[in-house]
Amino acid sequence: MAPVRPVLRDHPAGITRVGAMSVLVTGGAGYIGSHVVRLLQQRGQDVVVVDDLSNSTADRTGGAPLVQLDLAVDAAPERLAAEMRERGVTSVVHFAARKQVGESVARPAWYWKQNVGGTANLLLAMEEAGVRELVFSSSAATYGAPDVELVREDGPAEPINPYGQTKLVGEWMTRAAGRAWGLRAANLRYFNVAGAGWPDLGDVAVMNLVPMVFDRLERGEAPVVFGDDYPTPDGTCVRDYVHVLDLAKAHLAALDHLAADERPHDVFNVGTGRGASVLEVVEAVGAATGAAVEPVVRERRAGDPPRLVADVGRIRGTLGWSAEEDLTSIVTSAWQAWQAARGR
Ligand code: NAD
Ligand code: WQD
Repeated sequence: MAPVRPVLRDHPAGITRVGAMSVLVTGGAGYIGSHVVRLLQQRGQDVVVVDDLSNSTADRTGGAPLVQLDLAVDAAPERLAAEMRERGVTSVVHFAARKQVGESVARPAWYWKQNVGGTANLLLAMEEAGVRELVFSSSAATYGAPDVELVREDGPAEPINPYGQTKLVGEWMTRAAGRAWGLRAANLRYFNVAGAGWPDLGDVAVMNLVPMVFDRLERGEAPVVFGDDYPTPDGTCVRDYVHVLDLAKAHLAALDHLAADERPHDVFNVGTGRGASVLEVVEAVGAATGAAVEPVVRERRAGDPPRLVADVGRIRGTLGWSAEEDLTSIVTSAWQAWQAARGR
């Protein structure tokens, strides 16, 4: 059966409205998913969210219908296929996954069951319901620790932890589904996501550098730098920090690409192409918060690659997407959301 094509028409506000189609967003109540849900709603698309709310709350879906379901349970494919048919779903954005590297090292089988099993169940449902367009949340964790200035999608993918492995396997599954039954998938390998598109959609977890620095400052403690003897300009690790709103826009570009193009499978880095060191991020937090920030240097954290920065040529060339926001905007928006979440 041929996929249902969206009906495009011009919106008075200059936004392209899409009719007669609905996007299913797994993990749509989460940090990144809630941004994509809001952008889709803003351009007039119907959205249905599937989330087990294990790491989120229902108030982040902007009133979109919410199917509360763990994707990894045996009953998931049937339930998902029924929802897809009933709601006229024509494409899926798949965020729902466990994302903590350390936890994945401690509980590898559970990570495989959740992330690989959840993705397998979703693909079974999509095949059953005839839904053939998928944007999949992959990660720079698929690369492991590449010794290159800029990481390209066609370079080696050698993940060094179970979390990264589950993402690479997810990509393989989408490729195989493309061959088997015509799935068209865009696998987006996010680099370091931070910031907030709106103050009510911040990253509430304290798992990554920017919120970890906020947390320490709030407690009156000095931010911690994990190692300053790396082979980088200031000795601290370099990452590619991408604003979550820019990242969310990349998903819309990918959906539009899938609707317009018959290419069966693709992988895209989503980053800025620019690196920032831990010390530069800490300094940017000091500027955004007005706090006197004097970090303390501790031991290296196991498994941290010295440098991980995206080559963004493919996504710019193919999807016409590139990041607009800089580190100051990322940190400032994250700080606003952090304060909003604490009612200040
Ligand atoms: P998040 O935890 O805020 O969002 C994930 C959402 O999925 C949550 O709402 C959670 O309740 C839900 N969920 C998790 N497992 C589920 C399951 N088995 N069934 C149903 N719902 C489930 O995380 P996020 O930061 O928004 O990340 C979204 C996606 O992006 C994930 O796949 C993650 O691996 C990937 N990613 C994130 C980053 C990052 O820096 N945040 C970087 C690279 C890739
Ligand atoms: C960034 C840098 C730390 C906290 C992880 C996952 C990756 C992806 C994004 C999902 C590192 C240093 C941190 C602190 C520090 N997630 N740091 N002091 O490790 O690059 O990537 O999140 O796909 O898969 O591995 O991100 O934010 O944890 O750390 O010095 O208090 O900041 O050592 O160099 P990371 P991060």
